[in-house]
Amino acid sequence: MQLNTLIAALGLFAPASALLRFGCSALTVQRLDPLVEPGMNPSTHLHQIIGGNSFNVSMPPEEHDLAALSTCTSCQFTEDLSNYWTAVLFYRAKNGTFKRVPQSAQIQGNQGGMVVYYMTDALFDTAQKSTVTAFKPGFRMLVGDSTFRDREQARNFRQLTYICMENSGTRAPEYINFPTKPCPGGIMANHRFPTCWDGKNLDSPNHQDHVAYPESGTFESGGPCPATHPVRLPQILLETVWDTRAFNNPADFTDGNQPFVWSSGDASGFSSHADYLFGWKDDSLQRHLDGHTYVSAPTLKTQSTALQNQCKVKDMVGEDIDSWLTSLPGGNPVA
Ligand SMILES: *[C@@H]1O[C@H](CO)[C@@H](O)[C@H](O)[C@H]1NC(C)=O
Ligand SMILES: *[C@@H]1O[C@H](CO)[C@@H](O)[C@H](O)[C@H]1NC(C)=O
Repeated sequence: MQLNTLIAALGLFAPASALLRFGCSALTVQRLDPLVEPGMNPSTHLHQIIGGNSFNVSMPPEEHDLAALSTCTSCQFTEDLSNYWTAVLFYRAKNGTFKRVPQSAQIQGNQGGMVVYYMTDALFDTAQKSTVTAFKPGFRMLVGDSTFRDREQARNFRQLTYICMENSGTRAPEYINFPTKPCPGGIMANHRFPTCWDGKNLDSPNHQDHVAYPESGTFESGGPCPATHPVRLPQILLETVWDTRAFNNPADFTDGNQPFVWSSGDASGFSSHADYLFGWKDDSLQRHLDGHTYVSAPTLKTQSTALQNQCKVKDMVGEDIDSWLTSLPGGNPVA
């Protein structure tokens, strides 16, 4: 069954949703990266960000309590004041100029943004019976690497994928490089974060070493966490749909080429990465996960998409990201 059919059958478009599947509108799009390049304005490449409005140039964990400092969130669940971000997709025209690719929302009413999942078991496992430990205040992590450009490097990460969408319901196959044919329904970028934690460190110098993948099998198959990272976390999955429909000229897709680049300058797709700064209020996430519900989130408070769309962060960088640009923001070469 296609995911959209399943979701429709289960009524998951109702305000209370699945194993936690929820929409978040765009919060802001700007060249900031408070996890990897804190304090740098501007940072090296453009990001699209969702979540709480305490997002800022610098968010040191010891001073910056996302849940306390945010006054709104662009996400459906008002207790989720976390921030989530990815790079931004650009179209590169034959004449060498760049145009930012818009994002389309999967949840009606959302503007841009992403769909976020938190799972205790595989997506289609309606029981959602496993016990997981929610993230702690100050927890943050990065998946993927903006400098990666080839398939071997990309194998260091699991489950960072692209779907060439025929229509809004397409969920397979998944690729780890950019699709090399026009995608009539857009390109979905999927970011699945590691699901095992060392149980001690809220972060690590590379923002990755405190988390790990299951030792064998996968999160979906219930694979055990390694002894070094024994604590099983919920799996976070981010889905971003890049609305490439205005850029689907077949002439751009000849000889294995394709016209899209990440804001980092990556034309391969192997640099796909995403950042997460936990910011759920109190124990609201753990309480939800402990409820093991699949189709409802009875303990969580929700807000309308209209309110989600109103939650914004002001532009702190002040550069043009929307014209036909002669270079990517930050001047990153395509390489
Ligand atoms: C961002 O940080 C600056 C400097 O600390 C502060 O003045 C500003 O109020 C912060 N913005 C938000 C939205 O919290
Ligand atoms: C480059 O190509 C794009 C897409 O065809 C077009 O919109 C844009 O105006 C062109 N820019 C220049 C400087 O020729």
